[in-house]
Amino acid sequence: MKNKKLSAQKSRTPNQMWGGHYAEGPSAIMAEINASVGFDQRLYAQDIRASQAHAEMLAAQGILTPKDKNAIVKGLDTIRKEIESGKFKFSASLEDVHMNIESRLRELIGDAAGRLHTARSRNDQVATDFRLWLRDALDQIDPALQDLQAALIDKADKHTATIMPGFTHMQAAQPVTFGHHLLAYVEMLGRDRARFADCRKRTNEMPLGAAALAGTGFPIDRAHTAKALGFAKPMDNSMDAVSARDFALEFLADAAILGTHLSRLAEEITLWAAPAFNFVELSEAFTSGSSIMPQKRNPDAAELVRGKTGRLLGNFTALATTIKGLALTYAKDMQEDKEPVFDSADTLRLTISAMAGMVRDMTANPVAMKAALAAGFITATDLADWLVRAANIPFRDAHHLTGKIVRLAEERGCTLGELKLADMQKIDKRITKDIFSVLDPENAVKSRTSFGGTAPANVKKAVASARKRFL
Ligand code: ARG
Repeated sequence: MKNKKLSAQKSRTPNQMWGGHYAEGPSAIMAEINASVGFDQRLYAQDIRASQAHAEMLAAQGILTPKDKNAIVKGLDTIRKEIESGKFKFSASLEDVHMNIESRLRELIGDAAGRLHTARSRNDQVATDFRLWLRDALDQIDPALQDLQAALIDKADKHTATIMPGFTHMQAAQPVTFGHHLLAYVEMLGRDRARFADCRKRTNEMPLGAAALAGTGFPIDRAHTAKALGFAKPMDNSMDAVSARDFALEFLADAAILGTHLSRLAEEITLWAAPAFNFVELSEAFTSGSSIMPQKRNPDAAELVRGKTGRLLGNFTALATTIKGLALTYAKDMQEDKEPVFDSADTLRLTISAMAGMVRDMTANPVAMKAALAAGFITATDLADWLVRAANIPFRDAHHLTGKIVRLAEERGCTLGELKLADMQKIDKRITKDIFSVLDPENAVKSRTSFGGTAPANVKKAVASARKRFL
């Protein structure tokens, strides 16, 4: 019985937009798998805008009468208002946003609506709408990323001289400043913005006028439409125009890379906020308590930013896999292009803003950061460097001697700075009391003045430079 439901539904009428040679409508399951209007209605504003520009161009070229053009443009304005006020009824049997709008246009203005599709196909139409949509989305992502950079830079500005352990292999390595650490993310985000800006350039080329795949015999003016829609140019090859989805892939790849950066910052925030570290305190606004353990303040927002990176990576993989085997030009597989892009854009809107809020609210705990420096012989490299500089010992030998001194401190259960001079001199007699000047993490940080290094004086300049470059 169940199977019967899945076979042809004779009661259904053929699609009114293209069903001229069809005797019956699709099976219920065909209608369901084929319909994209559930998600592509998000393209309505771009679809209407592109249709209006297309109609204006057709009229300017004498392909449409001014009367029909005016009716089309006005009718589309009405439809936009209907959609925005929630009055418009999207129908799954009309498949997608394009046919829903065109069908409503026919109800509103009659036969003139049928002239809108002259010299156009849904293939160039959807590619154009989608590029316009992504362009708008990219124009919202950039200021959001800039705002996150601003939050990080402001926080870094407060902590240009706050010292903390820097890690390699998650082992305390050398002391750094908290400001320097935060500015590392500002650089990453700067490259992310540059990647999106690059993606915008390649997105901003217009497929419209490629028609189904081969161009059209109507005397259209693609440069006219491109200009009206703010595209840099009409795409050069009609087959490429309707087939290309690398603009979407590029966006998804850029979003996935940004996701890895946000996720690393989120991971660090969860570590820093963990009681074992206690380097930062997160605000109540971006954490949540536990229903069973009253002492907890869980970094949920950070964890979700980290967790959502999975979908960002997945969305790229999904679309790349869909596109990779497709012969030119359009195939319905390509209808699968929209949901991953919408999802990544939505995810970024949330994760970037959550991150900016968390960073702004986060308070550093310099006392705990400093206490963590005591563990891990964090100035061992400075000790080795001192042996090279002050005692002219080759670095490899200095490294070896330092290893022995670290071992001694380990045995004594003290920091390097707490060792006795006499004990160190037993390891190498060239050591003098001047060595204590570099065993202090504060001095170690101050000495790292090479370009891009962590010395507070550098970080102060880096904050100013970041403001200039990014804000
Ligand atoms: N809804 C379709 C999509 O998103 C529009 C293009 C349909 N083109 C076609 N030849 N059936 O891909």
